Amino acid sequence: MQEWKEMLQLAKEWALEAGKEQIRRAEKPMEMSSKSAAIDLVTEMDVWTESFLTENIRRHYPDHLMKTEESGVYEGDSPYEWVIDPIDGTVNYARGLPFYCISIGIRYKGETVVGVVYAPKLDEMFEAVKNEGAWLNGSRIHTSETKRLDEAVVGSGFPYDKGTTEDNNLPHVQQVVPRLGGFRRTGSAALDLCCVACARLDASWEIKLHDWDVEAGLLLASEAGGQTKVLEEEKGLYALAAAPGIYDELNALIKR
Ligand code: IPD
Ligand code: CA
Repeated sequence: MQEWKEMLQLAKEWALEAGKEQIRRAEKPMEMSSKSAAIDLVTEMDVWTESFLTENIRRHYPDHLMKTEESGVYEGDSPYEWVIDPIDGTVNYARGLPFYCISIGIRYKGETVVGVVYAPKLDEMFEAVKNEGAWLNGSRIHTSETKRLDEAVVGSGFPYDKGTTEDNNLPHVQQVVPRLGGFRRTGSAALDLCCVACARLDASWEIKLHDWDVEAGLLLASEAGGQTKVLEEEKGLYALAAAPGIYDELNALIKR
């Protein structure tokens, strides 16, 4: 659809511009505060990036709906909704670790049709369009052909309430990790999904996510040939994305 391609193009341009500013601004000390836990951070660049993106969207598409990590919901009268995480991996960003990204998903009548994930420090632009495929810096990407869990490298993460509840993903890790080739925790759920899409990881799963963490990344993973599962649970989203050759085995092990 031409309309989707135009939105994709704009989302990429805005993500590139915001990403440059994130890198530039990270050279100086930055204001930050905590949200749900001491390590659940929001930096001034989360806020700046979100305003930059929402203002641009408002200017181009005044009737579009938006859902964003820092400021919430913007109503509108349109079948389109933008789902935005201004920085996924804020803790990494605040510490100078390069694994963070801007994540923009666009829904049409409730279904994700465009996904853009830009990692400024890696200068990597991931993009996907429903039924058209997924790309990294302009080249088509595909999930891995792995069929064996003991050869697979799989990513996951831990929710911010990990110290106060037993539903903190550690039971799943204990069950799954001994069966894997390798395990990684990058600190960005959106980037993990993109890594599944381009076969750097064979799968990833996380619990208690929000839709802005995974909206774009899940489209990337499925358009690259992966199998995905999302459950809306009481405390947030459970999301699993895997190369088709290991999906069933991993899904059965996690039992979520
Ligand atoms: C976080 C990252 C992390 C995941 C957390 C998310 P944020 O997003 O995606 O990998 O484990 O649950 O909240 O806070 O950096 O935007
Ligand atoms: Ca996030």
